[in-house]
Amino acid sequence: MEQVSTNVKWHNHAVSREQRLTLKGHRPAVLWFTGLSGSGKSTIANAVDALLHSKGCHTYLLDGDNVRHGLNGDLGFSDKDRVENIRRIGEVAKLFVDAGVVVSTAFISPFTADRKMVREMCGEGEFIEVFVDTPLEVCESRDPKGLYKKARNGEIRNFTGIDSAYEAPDAPEVHLKTDTTSIEACAQQVVDYLLSKGLIQKG
Ligand code: ADX
Repeated sequence: MEQVSTNVKWHNHAVSREQRLTLKGHRPAVLWFTGLSGSGKSTIANAVDALLHSKGCHTYLLDGDNVRHGLNGDLGFSDKDRVENIRRIGEVAKLFVDAGVVVSTAFISPFTADRKMVREMCGEGEFIEVFVDTPLEVCESRDPKGLYKKARNGEIRNFTGIDSAYEAPDAPEVHLKTDTTSIEACAQQVVDYLLSKGLIQKG
């Protein structure tokens, strides 16, 4: 993105990132949940958030539908708007990581290039792509918001999986198969990954 604001100067803060991390006792990370609408991103991200919170981790959850009510309320679902949606979320997630938080994001984020862009904004090992892999037929049969039905009837255009693409991750750090694994087990799989990388401690 081209910066259009001029006469702005980056300020260094009195409290450093490392000082903030020392207080927290765990490493920060972005848990980037990606998957179709109705795949279970928000549900699993909430379950992970609760598990981490109970372990004393400082967490936050950025959720697609909620963020689209506020920060990204001016964006629709064209390819261009989806790219901007993800760019802004990436920038916000980066601020949370700087603050020392484990931030979960639950957005469809259908395009590989945009997820790669956010990965590249983050420090080494701090971007954890969590693929919530639920077959389209399963998402469509769940249809929790009745949106697939509307998309099939032509009432909603550019709906992911119907008339807009979803590019599945090639090598996600965590791959969740929600049609054969319970929500609790999926959430534990994410927490186990964080433990295995030493980002959080047992307890
Ligand atoms: S993203 O593609 O830009 O990452 P995001 O996760 O923010 O999407 O928003 C997806 C949510 O918006 C869906 O879960 C659904 O509730 C709603 N929605 C409304 N219209 C569409 C659409 N055309 N395609 C996908 N989701 C839509």
